[in-house]
Amino acid sequence: MNFKKQIFGFMDMLRFKKLVPNRREALASGSDAPLPQEYRTNELAKKLHPGNMKVELVDIRSLTPDMKEFTFKRIDSRAFPFFRAGQYVSLQGKIGNSYVSRPYSIVSSPREALENKLVLAVEDAGFFSGYLNREAKVGERFIMTEPAGEFHYETLRDQKKIVCIAGGSGITPFLSMAKSMEEGDESYEMILFYGARDEAHLAYKKELDALAEKGLKVIYVLSDEERQGYEHGFVTAELLEKYVDISAVTFFLCGPAAMYAFVQKQLSSYGLPVKAIRKDATCCKNLEMENPRTFTLTVRIRDKVYTIDALENETLLAAMERSGIPAPNKCRAGGCGYCHSKWLSGEYRIAENRDGRREADRKFGCIHPCVTYPMSDMEIDVPPAE
Ligand code: FES
Repeated sequence: MNFKKQIFGFMDMLRFKKLVPNRREALASGSDAPLPQEYRTNELAKKLHPGNMKVELVDIRSLTPDMKEFTFKRIDSRAFPFFRAGQYVSLQGKIGNSYVSRPYSIVSSPREALENKLVLAVEDAGFFSGYLNREAKVGERFIMTEPAGEFHYETLRDQKKIVCIAGGSGITPFLSMAKSMEEGDESYEMILFYGARDEAHLAYKKELDALAEKGLKVIYVLSDEERQGYEHGFVTAELLEKYVDISAVTFFLCGPAAMYAFVQKQLSSYGLPVKAIRKDATCCKNLEMENPRTFTLTVRIRDKVYTIDALENETLLAAMERSGIPAPNKCRAGGCGYCHSKWLSGEYRIAENRDGRREADRKFGCIHPCVTYPMSDMEIDVPPAE
């Protein structure tokens, strides 16, 4: 035993003695070509996460009496990043002296994005969406954030069968999800309930009918019109049961808040787990309030200080944009954390069920201006927009 140990110790010493000459030899035999400036993994990361992109509007077409489709291309001619069907981009621009931005679900499929083509569909409602519908022209340029958002299928969390319920313009993420399924990039089986007031307000009907011929199950539900081949009324539990086993699917909802409340109530007696009903986030809007007070909002961005008016019923983000201060934002719903800012003084309230801050952020006085309303004069420290 002892003898063996001695032998091994001796061999180790020999190896140790040769360590330096061996290393020199290896260095001398190595290539003298300079190291690459970019590795493939860095190139891929840049393609998937280009940050903000400059885009040009290349086509506009009407979908319904109050909804239009907008097609964009990147000005640098690169492909849009591949994304998960169901995600959104935030479109940003300057109208007059105000900065404006809105998140919109992507209509095109992830594969179409690789052809430098990204399609959004926008309902004529609100300031920026109204501008796009009525005034935007082909050739106009905007800033677009890279795709983001959690409203997409997740194999580990969701059932193989998914039931998508769209209300009005809420059809947009589901068109992308249906195309992605048809193109073989997603593995779910999708059933779509699409509610609108009448047939004229069904956007993308032709495209959906074409997808239905390839296997997508679509049920149109008209609330104000009775037509053969269409369901009439609203998406009730009774209607859902006619087509699916409610306890064996995951629901994806996109539409107005009233639709979320209605469907949630319809499903309340089934004892479904929280993860079985997924809702796309909606932007935080102005509060309905008679005679809102006006406060002074002091905004610090690096070494600049702005003093502006902020209405009691508008978010701090909306107040900054209205005054021409470019503040970072993406989801405008309290979830992405992109507008994360430091509270310095003053009182505020956060929109109901929109406080997406981490515990540490709450403790150390950070806020999300996209869902925060002033209740007194305030001072905040905001990171610069990209
Ligand atoms: S913009 Fe997403 S949390 Fe404020």
